[in-house]
Amino acid sequence: MAITVYSVRDDEVAYFQQWQQAHPEEQVQLIKVDLTVETATLAAGSHSVILLQTKPVDVTIIQVLAQLQVANLIVRAVGVDNIDAKAITQFGMQLANVPSYSPRSVAEFTVLQLLQLLRQSFRFNIAFKKGDFRWTPFLGEELVGKTVGVIGTGRIGAAVIAILKGFDVHILAYSHHHNLAAQGVQYVDQLPELYRRCDVLTLHIPGNAENTRLIDGAAFQAMKPGMILLNMARGSVVDTQALLAAMDQHIILATYDNEAPYFGQDYSQRKIDDLYLRALMQRDDVLLAPHMAFYTKPAVENMVNQALDKSLAFLQNTPTLEVH
Ligand code: COI
Repeated sequence: MAITVYSVRDDEVAYFQQWQQAHPEEQVQLIKVDLTVETATLAAGSHSVILLQTKPVDVTIIQVLAQLQVANLIVRAVGVDNIDAKAITQFGMQLANVPSYSPRSVAEFTVLQLLQLLRQSFRFNIAFKKGDFRWTPFLGEELVGKTVGVIGTGRIGAAVIAILKGFDVHILAYSHHHNLAAQGVQYVDQLPELYRRCDVLTLHIPGNAENTRLIDGAAFQAMKPGMILLNMARGSVVDTQALLAAMDQHIILATYDNEAPYFGQDYSQRKIDDLYLRALMQRDDVLLAPHMAFYTKPAVENMVNQALDKSLAFLQNTPTLEVH
């Protein structure tokens, strides 16, 4: 039986090979390109397709896979917002993700970026390389005593809170499920309360229709001046135009709404046509990372193994899609 894997990077290959050796009855086909309507035919003869891309997997792609009798689509990531889930059901296919691969990878990156912004270390490291060893203008802030709001207390939000507890901060949370209330996390019922009270606000919610542009112009206006906003969720959660107009805020972005054509690519010698992205890159108070909060060795190993294991689980029973 065959499994076709798309968007395979060099750093993943050894993990795929190890799994293949342990499962000689399966034939794992590794493909470097993304899944598109043109490349979908490469999955002929496979029961499962495993993918990792932020580009859309729309009905036309899913139709080709269904015609090839691919039964299962497995995203080796948490977010499935780029997959047309209705089309999956329409064509009788099954969808899975791997939400437990490493909440800690994103949580540690969240705290890393926050501390970097507070201490401006990303700026003085650049100055240092140029031989500028002055302290000013890099007078830092401290995290201790600050009020940190966490929107979304699923796996990743919970991991962020666990780390932040060691920093002596006040934590406020907003989430559909008050899953950490028993552990003393204080939930608020209304987002504006977080905007008003927090010095730092970090987003860990899915990129679904409900959360699209959740952080809009009105939200920015309601925020405490100087608040640090971290978008560790999907780029679609923040209205980029409103963000660029929000001069009072300090922003940390781990994703960007129109990232699909850019992030993961080398654009150092190419023109970036997206004016918003260029504007974000130029601002000193914006710390932008190209969707790599997840990118650690344990996370990559788990993404590969858990996705492959799920393709086998589909053959035996039916794992359901897990939400984060
Ligand atoms: C996720 O796991 O949802 C991520 O954002 C990782 C990314 C490589 C798609």
